[in-house]
Amino acid sequence: MGYFRENIERMSGYVPGFQPKSASVIKLNTNENPYPPSPKVMEAIRRISPERLRRYPEPLGDTFRPAAAGLLGVEPAQILCTNGGDDLLSICTRAFCDGRRPMAYAQPTYSLYPVLAQLQGCRTIEPARTGNWAKELAEINAPLTIVCNPNAPTTDFTAVEELGTLAEALDGVLLIDEAYADFAGDNAIRLVRDHDNVIVLRSMSKGYSLAGLRFGYGVARPDLIEGLCKVKDSYNVDAVAIAAATAAILDQPYFLSNVEMIKAERQRLTESLRLLGLDVPDSRTNFVLARCPSGSAKEIYEALAQRDIYVRYFDLPGLEDKLRITVGTPEQNKTLVKALQKIVAGEGTNS
Ligand SMILES: Cc1ncc(COP(=O)(O)O)c(C=O)c1O
Repeated sequence: MGYFRENIERMSGYVPGFQPKSASVIKLNTNENPYPPSPKVMEAIRRISPERLRRYPEPLGDTFRPAAAGLLGVEPAQILCTNGGDDLLSICTRAFCDGRRPMAYAQPTYSLYPVLAQLQGCRTIEPARTGNWAKELAEINAPLTIVCNPNAPTTDFTAVEELGTLAEALDGVLLIDEAYADFAGDNAIRLVRDHDNVIVLRSMSKGYSLAGLRFGYGVARPDLIEGLCKVKDSYNVDAVAIAAATAAILDQPYFLSNVEMIKAERQRLTESLRLLGLDVPDSRTNFVLARCPSGSAKEIYEALAQRDIYVRYFDLPGLEDKLRITVGTPEQNKTLVKALQKIVAGEGTNS
């Protein structure tokens, strides 16, 4: 065609997870929260006035910033509101990377990072996530280093102190992607106090059940946030999202009980899958990564899909023959485990 920049012509783009139309299927493939958002979120959306929609929204989400800052023990000027966590990843790529300024992260990790790098026309440096990968990232010393913690899709957690050591060693920015921190038991917000090169990413899609709303935020020193504001779209978060996300983050009792239910269910699901012979490491996220004993992950994935149960299948370097399964409600997980029992017993695959 020739209309596009060369790097756009060459790349294939990010492939979003499958979103089935029917609500009656069991959807455990894109790490959504199985429970609805707080009733206070729905109330806040109902109360939006026509006048709020007629006007442009707050450019910096100034209603949300103090609510998040108060919870995290930082200043409102340290919060950057974004259109989902993905928007922050995109803003950081545009702010810190170009043809001469590469991005570094250890693989396997979130598959959007290389796509954003391709869009920006910057090189990526991707050491394997084995051995002392954090030290390798320190030695690479890229202008933008991204660490996903807990990591997707491997579900493991890197000690925050280790990330502090990495931040100390880098001349560039360390972006810590904490999309799943709500389920991890620890987080890196305290690093922002001591390191002027750390940005922590948060998402409202997982712990707060707002994947459809599109709201996330970054936490960093005020001067870094100010610089990122130059790069973001003028009105990157809309009026409805600001009101709903603020109501969500202020309803901590609802959030905490929701997260506890998912963590308890994560434990039950992990144990049930292990009893079926699947290899499932302990997860610090709202999903588990299972390796199938006979190397038949694809067949199992397809047999589950035939039963209207959707999980995510991987066959990538470092992720050979793996199924990523979002923690659902107790009923959804029971149905999944029952179906797996049948499939593993040979009733439903070609094996
Ligand atoms: C590792 C990671 N980071 C960031 C995001 C972005 O989340 P959102 O844009 O929904 O806030 C996701 C979403 O799945 C993710 O898995």
